Parts: sequence; structure tokens; C-alpha cells
Amino acid sequence: MLILMSNQKIPVEKYSTPEIASKSVAKEVAALIQKNNSDGKNTVLGLATGSTPLHLYKELIRIHKEDGLSFKNTITFNLDDYYPISQDDPESYYYFMQQHFIKHIDILPENFHIPDSNMPRESIEIECAKYEQTIKDSGGIDIQILGIGRTGHIGFNEPGSSRDSRTRLVELDKITRDDACSNFNSLENTPKYSLTMGVATIMEAKKIILMAWGKSKSEIIAKVVKGSITNEASASFLQSHPNAKFVLDKDSVSRL
Ligand code: F6R
Repeated sequence: MLILMSNQKIPVEKYSTPEIASKSVAKEVAALIQKNNSDGKNTVLGLATGSTPLHLYKELIRIHKEDGLSFKNTITFNLDDYYPISQDDPESYYYFMQQHFIKHIDILPENFHIPDSNMPRESIEIECAKYEQTIKDSGGIDIQILGIGRTGHIGFNEPGSSRDSRTRLVELDKITRDDACSNFNSLENTPKYSLTMGVATIMEAKKIILMAWGKSKSEIIAKVVKGSITNEASASFLQSHPNAKFVLDKDSVSRL
């Protein structure tokens, strides 16, 4: 069941489970792709990794396989990847995207973009600027999908990230590394850096949908939805976006 909470600083949709919530987001994404396909236009999606969007990708794959939705005119840009990490590493976001979404749909390989986690350090600035330019050249992001970290990050825009930040190399917060550490066996093996779209890059998307599930996200959700806009939690900047919404389950919404 959907409950709309419009008395918040950001519109919130509350669903009973992550699965039902994700189906609703998938329907919205699929409807835009379908419309643009019929009009002969491309659709540009900004995509996230992590556990949050898994149900969304599963549902979009189902719509592709069962209902025939084509991704041939879809262009995607992922938010981020660890740096450095090999694309063959099962913990890389490149690998994640291939496994959970890209290899199951008919997107053209050249239309899938993710910051290159193998580039040498001296190329980072130029390559990050190129990433921004490629997004602009594609016409800009139509729908940006986001998760949220316990630090309030969107992408890997950790506390301290400014409103005008762009795609760049960032140092990961200790809380983010603690949360990722079980995937890398130890904190020592957990990456210290990532390449991420900036807050300004994300805020240029025409529409933004942030999804969050579970009790562990409820505190940060309450903070960024009810609190003031601050670079201490980059998701709070979404309060000033004209077309952003939070799609939450009953647990992540529990402190609102
Ligand atoms: C991932 C990303 C991050 C995650 C966030 C939540 O591409 O940019 O901001 O969305 O860390 O991660 P999960 O979904 O694993 O809780």
C-alpha cells in the first residue's frame, strides 16, 4: 500500500515492503523509456549500486523479458565506483552492474557508463571532466536513482561535500568503510577512495528518486527529510530539487 507524506520538506512515498516500492519505481522508469522509445527519443538514466536498487533491477529485467521493454535507446551513467579496483573484482560496481542489470537487458554496451576505477591518478581530473561532458552531451539525466548511506551520502558525497561538487576522487568516510567492510573481509582491505558524481552533477538530473529500506536508514532519513540543508549530509540538498522524492519502506520511514 502507498501512503503519500506531503507535509515533509521532500515528498515521501511510503510502501509496506521494499519489493512493492521498487515495483512502483520500476513502473515509472519503464513508462518513461516506453514513451521515449515511441517518440524516437533516448532515455538517460543515472544509476546506483548497493543492496537498495536490487529489487528495481530485478523488476526492470522482468519487464524487459516478459513485456518486451527495450533498452536499445537507453543510456546509463552510474554514480560511482571504488578507486582503485579492477572491473573483474566482484566487489567493483562495474561488476555489480553487469551481473545485476546490464547483461540481462538489450542496452548497447557503449551506452553503459561508469567512472573508470582503473585510470591512473594523473588522469583522474581530465577523465572526471569527460564523464561530466558525456552526461551533458547525452542530453542530461532524465531520472536519477539514488540510495543513501548512513552518513547521508548520495553517490559517495561524504560529509563535507559541497553543493557545487562535480565528479571527482573522494576519501570514503569511516562509517561507509565500516558498512562495506564485510564485503572485503577486513577494514584494511576495504577501499579508502572512490570516484563519484558530485552533488551538482546529481542535482542537474530532471527527476531524482531516492530509495531506502530498513531500520538502519531511519535515523539518517529523518535527518535529511526534516532537518536543514547542510553539506554534513549531502542527501539534504535534495530538499531544494524541484522534482525529487523519497521512496521508503515502513522501517526506513519509522522516524518521520
Ligand atoms: C552506490 C552509492 C551509495 C549507496 C549507499 C547505500 O552506488 O552511490 O550512495 O546508494 O551507500 O548503499 P546500500 O544500498 O548498499 O545500503
